[in-house]
Amino acid sequence: MKKKLVALTGAGISAESGLATFRGSDGLWEGHRVEDVASPEGWARNPALVLDFYNQRRAAARAAHPNAGHRALAALEKEFEVVIITQNVDDLHERAGSSRVIHLHGKLFEARSTHDEKLVYPMTGDTINLGDTCEKGHQLRPNIVWFGEQVPLMELAAEQAATADVFMVIGTSLQVYPAAGLVHFAPPGCPVYIIDPNQPPLSARPNVQFITEPASTGVPRVAALLRR
Ligand code: APR
Repeated sequence: MKKKLVALTGAGISAESGLATFRGSDGLWEGHRVEDVASPEGWARNPALVLDFYNQRRAAARAAHPNAGHRALAALEKEFEVVIITQNVDDLHERAGSSRVIHLHGKLFEARSTHDEKLVYPMTGDTINLGDTCEKGHQLRPNIVWFGEQVPLMELAAEQAATADVFMVIGTSLQVYPAAGLVHFAPPGCPVYIIDPNQPPLSARPNVQFITEPASTGVPRVAALLRR
């Protein structure tokens, strides 16, 4: 039986594909305060701005390509049962060939009703506009988990983490909960590899190894290590 490898990924794994991380040096996300474009309050204040912002993110993701970090994780499916828990809303893991991806913070290429969160639609085009509605006539919004909203897939993600034989953390500042706490669900003896050019804060845990380099070289390096 294959060993289970659980990888928690964040914006950093898509950085080398040209998609901006959230907490850049200026503290802004593509020129916006995160709370203006990724919170229910921001949506209530200015839905047109929020829709336009995500329309731009969708176009950028569509134009981007998976990098060596995404590809190395996909290739590990040959030797491991790989489960990716991503905070990213892009689809670069899937496009690299990964088959099990839990999108903790939702998906850029899905729209959902503002009235009923169960009404979710795959997107055919790249834009959601004011006036685009669900089948019951309510405005559509991006199917993304914003700040202050519940994370419906957290329980599933925690179950996966708790059964990991190997855990990887790639390109996340570990500042946003509950996702940041997932590593603590990994069994006590489970080795943890943290791949990030800037070491994120991780309070005491045994068997942690920091690989302080970009995902495009760090993930293949850890993959080679695991295959030995
Ligand atoms: N390779 C690996 N890691 C990188 C790279 C790279 N090439 N470039 C940057 N990083 C690292 C940064 O050092 C940082 O630790 O990626 C991390 C990005 O952190 P954040 O911008 O905070 O992104 P993330 O942790 O994914 O944010 C979590 O916050 O805004 C919310 O919901 C949003 O899912 C997001 C969540």
